[in-house]
Amino acid sequence: MSARLGDEAPAFCWYLFDRSFSDVRSDGNEVPDECVNRYGECVSRVTSGEPMQYVFGYTPFYDLQIVCRPGVLIPRYDTEVLVGEAIKTLPPGAVFADMCCGSGCIAAAVLRHRPDTRAVCCDISEEALSLAWDNLEKYGLADRARVFRFDVFGSWESFPLIDALLCNPPYISAADMEKLPENVRREPAIALYGGEDGLDFYRVIIEKSKRCFKGPAHIIFEIGYDQGAALTGLSPHPCTIKKDLSGNDRVCIIRG
Ligand SMILES: C[S@@+](CC[C@H](N)C(=O)[O-])C[C@H]1O[C@@H](n2cnc3c(N)ncnc32)[C@H](O)[C@@H]1O
Repeated sequence: MSARLGDEAPAFCWYLFDRSFSDVRSDGNEVPDECVNRYGECVSRVTSGEPMQYVFGYTPFYDLQIVCRPGVLIPRYDTEVLVGEAIKTLPPGAVFADMCCGSGCIAAAVLRHRPDTRAVCCDISEEALSLAWDNLEKYGLADRARVFRFDVFGSWESFPLIDALLCNPPYISAADMEKLPENVRREPAIALYGGEDGLDFYRVIIEKSKRCFKGPAHIIFEIGYDQGAALTGLSPHPCTIKKDLSGNDRVCIIRG
């Protein structure tokens, strides 16, 4: 068991058997055939390069268990920095956009911790919208959210008025797309690729969102580890860069 799965074996044991790895391995334990079969299926999916979160069907995010499905980006730990900023700084009663919402992880975590707020969640991908809805419903948050299809590069004419815009857009450059590890390649390229220099979504959202704010602009972006200076250059307003726990640029806050 451990020889084939290595470091991932303990996590699989909890998932499949609800028991620790050492307990399952100890003498005298009988593991039901059905569990052994599921284990074999998981092993072959993960060893073929499929992300573990797609195999398990969920991932921890903030204090939630976000449902994950192939076709939609797996929420990352780094994105919790954006969520923490939003929870701290959204004005009372705010309506916020979770733009490029993917699984809905950002909206779900913020709505849960800020029960005074409401969200408009949008994405170009129907698979993402369906998963976002499922995650919001799972935590009883769907009655404070609207979920709809929206193309950032299309018309913004009818976009609803908001107090703040939260967004983790695709931000990987063309050069970095070439270097992605095998498991990340299993996630949708549409969720990763941000144009030649990785900044296409920031440019268009900063420009087109101007008309959407009820008051002064308030944008909280997730950014790539080396994109802080570029975002500061793009922003027409004062801009603050926050770092993640590894000391990398991770969030850009723009306040009009
Ligand atoms: C980096 S993922 C972020 C997902 C989620 N917010 C998160 O933090 O895990 C970017 C999302 O942008 C969406 N997307 C890609 N192109 C888009 C477009 N033109 N308009 C709107 N959303 C788009 C993708 O479908 C994907 O769900």
